[in-house]
Formats: sequence, structure tokens, C-alpha cells
Amino acid sequence: MFPDKSAQLEEALQLLDPVLLAVTSQDENARGGLIATFVSNASIVPDCPRLMVGIAHQHHTWTLIENSNCCALHLLGEEHLAWAWKLGTCSGKQSDKLLDFQTTQWETGAPILTEAIAAFDCKVEARFETGDRTIYLLEVAEGQKMNPGTPMKYSDLWNVADQQQRDLMKSLLKADQQIDRNAIEQWRDQHLKNC
Ligand SMILES: Cc1cc2nc3c(=O)[nH]c(=O)nc-3n(C[C@H](O)[C@H](O)[C@H](O)COP(=O)(O)O)c2cc1C
Repeated sequence: MFPDKSAQLEEALQLLDPVLLAVTSQDENARGGLIATFVSNASIVPDCPRLMVGIAHQHHTWTLIENSNCCALHLLGEEHLAWAWKLGTCSGKQSDKLLDFQTTQWETGAPILTEAIAAFDCKVEARFETGDRTIYLLEVAEGQKMNPGTPMKYSDLWNVADQQQRDLMKSLLKADQQIDRNAIEQWRDQHLKNC
């Protein structure tokens, strides 16, 4: 019997188990935020801190970052589980998703969620277009651990979700995967033709 390669790949990818972050941003007209797992530390120099985040083009928060060139990243604990549903499962195009959050602003003007475990106030230094998403290289203007707690990981979210929440995540993931697949294939057609 042949091994199922896609199942093996999925099992391997699950080992990466990224931390969940809330990414917020604000332009002249609106503010908003989403949940992201595509986040990484991008500098080892303490006085030149950088982070990297990948945001899909279809999201409202992407438009806010494009307009403002700023965003804030927040670490969440299990006590912030409701945030994952609020920020990660609906669009902020029609409403202010941050209405129920306690917020402040630091240097860049991006909304800081003061109840998060930690926050990083960031300015866009560079962007890389990859078809489905923009990968932003961020200069961290300010960062602070604000509250005690253990950062929640992707697997924690699935473990604590009830069946209805799992079904919702699966269906949203499937819809985003279809958008992203088309965008990646189109990008590859345009950029890798001569490789
Ligand atoms: C666990 C989880 C991880 C996610 N990771 C990302 C990510 O890394 N990048 C991204 O663009 N969207 C990611 N999303 C999707 C957005 O958070 C979600 O579509 C959100 O509702 C978009 O909101 P907006 O349109 O108001 O910006 C993730 C969602 C979940 C539930």
C-alpha cells in the first residue's frame, strides 16, 4: 500500500504549530483586526527589532495596513479565546470589530489591545507580494509584555473549540484555501514561467 503523501505532509506541517496573534490596524476611516498564524521574529538585533507577518489580500485588515503602513501584533492566551472567534471568523468590512475591546495607541496609531499578553507596535519597512498574501517586514517601534499568561497556539484553538466552532473554522479555511490556491497559481504563472 502506498503512503498517503498529502496526509504525511499535513502531519509534518502540524508540528510547526504556530502561535496565534491578533493583528490590528487603523486608517483615516476605520480600524479592525484579524487572527494570524503567519508571524515570525525577523531580527536577532535587540535595538533593530523586526517581525514578519503574512496577510491575505481579501481581508479588511490588509486594506487598513496598506493605507496606514502600520499595524500592531498581540499575543493571546487561552483566556482570550473569544477574541479568536471575534477577530478570526468574520470580516470587519461592515462593522468595527474592536468595539468591545479596551484599546489605546502607542507610537504608530495602530490600535493596541491592552488586555493582550504582549503587544508590538509596528511600521511596514518592506513588503513582498506572493499572490495570495502580502508578506510585511515590520519595524517594531515599541513592544511590551502587558499581562501574565501563556501564548495560545494553533493546536490549542482546535483543542478547546466545540464541534460548531470547529465546523465554522473548517468551512472558513476551505473558502480561504480556494481563494489562496487560485492566487498562488496565478502568481506562479506570472513569476516562474522562465525559471
Ligand atoms: C487560526 C487562524 C489563523 C489565521 N491566520 C491567518 C494569517 O496568518 N493570515 C491571514 O491573512 N489570515 C489569517 N486568518 C484569517 C483571518 O483571521 C480571518 O479571515 C479574519 O476574519 C479576517 O478579518 P478582516 O477581514 O476583518 O481583516 C486566520 C484565521 C484563523 C481562525
